[in-house]
Amino acid sequence: MTHARAHPNIALVKYWGKQDKPGNLPATPNLSITLDNLATDTVVSTHHQDEVWLNQKQVADQKIFRFLEELRSEFELAPIRIETSNNFPTGAGLASSASGFAALICAINQHADLGLNADLMSDWARRGSASAARSLFGGYVALVPPLWRAQPIAPASHWPLKTVVAITNETQKSISSSEGMERSRLTSDFYTPWLRGAGDDFAAAFDAINNKDFAALAEIAELSCLKMHSVMLTSLPTLSYWNPATLACMDAVRELRNQGTPVFFTVDAGPQVKAVCEPQHETRVSEVLTQVPGVIRTITCGLGNAAHIVEP
Ligand code: PMV
Repeated sequence: MTHARAHPNIALVKYWGKQDKPGNLPATPNLSITLDNLATDTVVSTHHQDEVWLNQKQVADQKIFRFLEELRSEFELAPIRIETSNNFPTGAGLASSASGFAALICAINQHADLGLNADLMSDWARRGSASAARSLFGGYVALVPPLWRAQPIAPASHWPLKTVVAITNETQKSISSSEGMERSRLTSDFYTPWLRGAGDDFAAAFDAINNKDFAALAEIAELSCLKMHSVMLTSLPTLSYWNPATLACMDAVRELRNQGTPVFFTVDAGPQVKAVCEPQHETRVSEVLTQVPGVIRTITCGLGNAAHIVEP
């Protein structure tokens, strides 16, 4: 029995769209932070058949079954039972598939003695869910060509930012990210300009992190998020992940900034808002977001560490 833990990550420079070739490769370079207080715990054990249990319920997760099939095309892997659970809402735009596939490959690697290093685990995690490649590492992480294995670009200690996650709806989204991205690629007029701008956005965020330039990072992260949502919204049929509380949280973050609190928001394929700030502003940001109508609760996170084995 092997137990692994991985944390979700949120992209500050997003990817939305994949390359038209095998390997589940993002179309654009992207960059994230790993979050410490959200976690996926995955236990893998030998079993007479493959079974997946998610949050204590048996599920027929086709993405996981396909992932096991792909692994078996390269490695000997006897049937396994996978028990995975999240300490946060699953499939609701909080990157549970990122931490999920990162924890899964980490557990299988140890259980079946695959001998993969972190780079190769990142490569495998990406095939399950591209953003999962980034959750193999802690702190600030980039997923870039040519290999499309994630790379840590700075440890958490470099610039220990905090993220206040405002949960506005805990239910699972109806359209998966993969399906949504493909729809955008095929139908949104904004898709090509979005691809064209991604390299510059990545470079600007990379520099801002290196220089610990909060204002620069805030500007580029919000812009990347809003460009991605513009692509989503202009897809046919539209992909609208926001609810009124999402918009209210974004306004509250802008208002805090106008009043002098350095904070920025980012939103993924779901209605939750993540507000990023320096540690001294975390309490204020959390107080304000908790009071926004429609916010169910907030969870404050620091920067998390890499996916790892949990010793018994
Ligand atoms: O790789 P996926 O299928 O988990 O999709 C991730 C999509 C976003 O979270 C919206 C963007 C990103 O770069 O993480």
